[in-house]
Amino acid sequence: LIYPLLLCGGSGTRLWPLSRKSFPKQFARITGDDSLFQQAAKRLSGADFAAPIVVTGNDFRFIVTEQLAACELAPSAIVIEPEGRNTAPAVLAAALGLAQHDPLALMLVAPSDHVIPDQEAFRAAVQAAAPRAQAGYLVTFGIMPTRAETGYGYLELAEGAQSTATTPQALKRFVEKPDAARAAEMVASGTYLWNAGIFLFTAQALIEAFATHAPDILAPVRASVTQARRDLGFTRLDPAHWADVPDISIDYAIMEKASHLAVMPYSAGWSDLGGWEAVWQESGPDASGNVISDHATALDCTGTLLRSETDRVELVGIGLEDIVAIATGDAVLVAHKSKAQDVKDAVAALKARG
Ligand code: GDD
Ligand code: MG
Repeated sequence: LIYPLLLCGGSGTRLWPLSRKSFPKQFARITGDDSLFQQAAKRLSGADFAAPIVVTGNDFRFIVTEQLAACELAPSAIVIEPEGRNTAPAVLAAALGLAQHDPLALMLVAPSDHVIPDQEAFRAAVQAAAPRAQAGYLVTFGIMPTRAETGYGYLELAEGAQSTATTPQALKRFVEKPDAARAAEMVASGTYLWNAGIFLFTAQALIEAFATHAPDILAPVRASVTQARRDLGFTRLDPAHWADVPDISIDYAIMEKASHLAVMPYSAGWSDLGGWEAVWQESGPDASGNVISDHATALDCTGTLLRSETDRVELVGIGLEDIVAIATGDAVLVAHKSKAQDVKDAVAALKARG
């Protein structure tokens, strides 16, 4: 059995005004009737999987329980971080908890805010990757890059490795979030894949990697797990020790340094919904290239995303081309689709204004 680890932290600002600090995008219904978090939980359920472990912040504990219950899934643990410290401590805390009863258990680290449309293909890839993980490797999932994205990690294939193989391939190294020039070179070279942010390994292999490459993280996280408090079905990590935990992602803390890396190429569709343009793309535009929600109407529009999040707002677009318009109960975003990435700057400006 494989233990899914659903990571729910981080408040993305690139899908403002839908995604907020108090309501990050993984809990929103962005594509389809289930939230992204529910889609992830369902994707990793069934015969091959144990009940999921969720690591999240205190503010989201009830959204998590409600959304799991709504899809009739029970978690094996909901681990509450006293404060977000990025993904390295979150993943390690789950691995240490799991290792208490089964150190050789396989863990699949899954961000809860991605879209992976083909559930069967994804499960098959996880199964194909499992033996390599059981052998002690840290297996990443790799996506064929389509642009010089600087927000992703890059995986350099070892000599002779195949970027389109259906079995795990050897990795030379892991490069997290390069600058634009470096990213362009890597895409052009044809020997790199994007890191999907999905990892498979045994609890023990991960803990050993921290012991070797990040003992300063291992010590306080271990203390925090050992002294965790059970509370109404939640596992609350000890806040005093957690205060000493560095804030760092697993990509920087472990993946860039580790040996024993492998990649499972994955080509059946993946998006991390990095902005509204990606939401438009993943929502299946109609024949005119439009994506129109309930309470929204488009007249003579093309390539446009119109979303009203509330029945109190009727949103109407006329004669629009490649526009994104999002209306919530208290905010409206109107942007050119190609500029919708800049919404994060707008959010920063709003924050600065108070
Ligand atoms: N519980 C918890 N606590 N979860 C967290 C925390 C935290 O402190 N920080 C982030 N997460 C969750 C996010 O909610 C998300 O589901 C996942 O961990 C990944 O974090 P992101 O903050 O979205 O990472 P990223 O997008 O910048 O980069 C990662 O993903 C890319 C692909 O989408 C890296 O792994 C890149 O290498 C990768 O290409
Ligand atoms: Mg992300």
